[in-house]
Amino acid sequence: MKIYGKEISVLDWTGDALAVGFFEREEILTLNDEMTQLDQKLLGTISELIQEKECKGKTGCICLTRVGSNTPIRKIMIVGLGKSSDFSLNTLRKTGAAIARIAKKEKIKTLALQLPNFNEDKEGSAGAIAEGLILALHQDNRFKSDPQDQDLKLETVDLLGFSAIETVITRTEQICSGVILAKELVNAPANVLTPVTMAETAKELAHNYGLKLEILEQEDCEKLGMGSFLGVAKASELPPKFIHLIYNPSGTPRRKVAIVGKGLTFDSGGLNLKVSGSGIESMKVDMGGAGATFGAAKAIAQLKPDVEVHFISAVTENMISGRALRPGDILTASNGKTIEVNNTDAEGRLTLADALVYTEKLELDAIVDLATLTGACVVALGDDIAGFWSTDENLTKELKQASEASGEPMWEMPLKENYFELMKSPIADMKNTGSRSGGAITAALFLKQFIEKTPWAHIDIAGPVWADKESGINNQGATGYPVRTLVNWILS
Ligand code: BES
Ligand code: MN
Ligand code: ZN
Repeated sequence: MKIYGKEISVLDWTGDALAVGFFEREEILTLNDEMTQLDQKLLGTISELIQEKECKGKTGCICLTRVGSNTPIRKIMIVGLGKSSDFSLNTLRKTGAAIARIAKKEKIKTLALQLPNFNEDKEGSAGAIAEGLILALHQDNRFKSDPQDQDLKLETVDLLGFSAIETVITRTEQICSGVILAKELVNAPANVLTPVTMAETAKELAHNYGLKLEILEQEDCEKLGMGSFLGVAKASELPPKFIHLIYNPSGTPRRKVAIVGKGLTFDSGGLNLKVSGSGIESMKVDMGGAGATFGAAKAIAQLKPDVEVHFISAVTENMISGRALRPGDILTASNGKTIEVNNTDAEGRLTLADALVYTEKLELDAIVDLATLTGACVVALGDDIAGFWSTDENLTKELKQASEASGEPMWEMPLKENYFELMKSPIADMKNTGSRSGGAITAALFLKQFIEKTPWAHIDIAGPVWADKESGINNQGATGYPVRTLVNWILS
């Protein structure tokens, strides 16, 4: 699919389908001069459709009709944009997605969109529409023996009233390629996507996009004293992989940052096993942090900002076997801190502990970690909103702005120090879990033990990593959250 800006009137466009956006009104929609002329040209089809369906421009409401066979435009879509007072880039993103889904169903080849731009921000608006179109059309058929609707019919989309948007469309395609990589990594089941194949994916990324890559094997991690990460990895038949991708800008970097992603290709819970009904069958998503990290790497390597970025993940599986970590075992992390593992299902923080210690040694300006860390965060904020914690006000401001712009919501949660008392161990420096209440907060406090001074933020993505059903720009399945936020942040 190619997306173009066309500074022409709807009266001059010909093709399979035209989608026209309308803001919500109390009364049935009316047509402006241009649309009235088009309506006349199309023998009154538009006004008839509006009358018949009583279109009022409500959010998400799309009415479609066929115009005729020899008309310059063969199908018309009346697209509700909701109240103009609620209009935002996110409206455009969701509208783009909704139109794309219908275009696909209707097997439309050439499509034009007549949508308003937000705040005279033509570039931002075109980018948001394109994001919605591209992401909604992505369908993961890799695991079907007979992949249906594989051949996408949609060939061109013309954004009417937009011009000189080639650059923003290219950038949007680059960002979306990162989002799609993250989705595909998370969608892939744990028998296909393993620590070994994650390392192979990193190699491909490095090779195809000119990133530097360092992979630490088990022995290397042992030498660095990563007892916490390796404790989790013990029961797996597969070797753990500590993956470090680096994007170096051509000139002197304006700043140096790291993204660290939790990379559990499967989380069985270990010996404190996840019982049936706990969602164990969906625990392939537990590398969603690493998936988003790789996705961001793919996007950043193409966008080439003047920032040095490190993409890091300690990848393994949390399994059971005779070699498994036992509840009560004490591990020593690479910063020398000791951890009494009272629950082997709180494994993500154990892997992240060593990843954070390693990352801090790189002496960067900021570290952001992403993790499907706790069910408690999903209980607190639901499926759509990530939990956000940070030790730094500036970093908080930057990431909030980036998330606002991408439409990937997150909510700041407290790093309430006295909750850490729940994690005190009589025998080691700390336990790895506290009580059930405040579980997302104690998890964040645990991670904080492994950061000394670098500005740090932690994003718990256990909810938004996955969508049970299609909604907004998300199709059912992995969402690629929060690749677009990370990209915005790095570019800001
Ligand atoms: N991977 C899970 C968290 C999770 C839950 C991710 C739902 C995605 C969806 C994590 O490793 C885990 O098991 N956390 C435990 C922590 C508890 C043992 C303190 C949890 O949330 O129950
Ligand atoms: Mn777990
Ligand atoms: Zn986990």
